[in-house]
Amino acid sequence: MTAMTKAPATPAALRVTGLSKSYGSHTVLRDITIDVRAGETLCLIGPSGSGKSTLLKCLNLLETPDSGEIWLGETCLTAARADVDAARARIGMVFQHFNLFPHLSVERNVTLALTSVKGMGREQARQSALRRLAEVGLAAFADRRPAQLSGGQQQRVAIARALAMEPEVMLFDEATSALDPELVKDVLAVMRDLASAGMTMAVVTHEMGFAREAADRVAFMCDGRLAEIDTPDRIFERADHARLRQFLSQVL
Ligand SMILES: Nc1ncnc2c1ncn2[C@@H]1O[C@H](COP(=O)(O)OP(=O)(O)OP(=O)(O)O)[C@@H](O)[C@H]1O
Ligand SMILES: [Mg+2]
Repeated sequence: MTAMTKAPATPAALRVTGLSKSYGSHTVLRDITIDVRAGETLCLIGPSGSGKSTLLKCLNLLETPDSGEIWLGETCLTAARADVDAARARIGMVFQHFNLFPHLSVERNVTLALTSVKGMGREQARQSALRRLAEVGLAAFADRRPAQLSGGQQQRVAIARALAMEPEVMLFDEATSALDPELVKDVLAVMRDLASAGMTMAVVTHEMGFAREAADRVAFMCDGRLAEIDTPDRIFERADHARLRQFLSQVL
């Protein structure tokens, strides 16, 4: 019989192989191999300190891995001569804290990188910002200052800001965990819309409901390792990894 490897249905947008990272003697990521397929929503779950944020930071080159490779499409981001700024512009990142500029209007927060990094003209950038703000339900808020918005609205501005750069991949690190509970759902709804629209996303989240409904696959990280990766059904209904079962019993 010929052994044939079945090709994945869709190509990998992001591919990580053998990624390791230590801080001093503390190993935080151990030999992680994982991919995010084009159009896929991959949720990353796991206990505090398991390395989820560090993995996302490595993907966005905010941290330098000690070993392993990261590929964004055909570009090797970890190659010695990689153009880090160009690679970063292709990856959108949304953090727990939105880091909007308080002295700038919502619109200017969204257009800043378009005009300064992409060199886009002011009017074209404005149109693009208004389109993105409309997508996150904030078209009417363009002229406000961030302080005049709720936390959930500010986070949606941060998402619009990332989307305006037209990234190939969006990374979310606990985008809702600093929000009051009643504000979480609007941000999750925006993320769900993005997922349905076919955006490629890697989402670190403690929102198990979101992971279950919106993820194509769920990855469970534990002690710096990728312990499980599977469909939400199998992760949540038929978890056979003892640490995963224990983790789920604490968070569900
Ligand atoms: N800059 C740093 N210097 C030293 N240690 C760090 C640094 N950043 C993270 N760590 C350590 O690396 C480990 C993994 O941290 P990381 O932030 O990736 O975990 P996490 O899975 O995102 O956790 P949480 O769910 O609490 O956000 C932790 O033990 C943390 O203390
Ligand atoms: Mg984290």
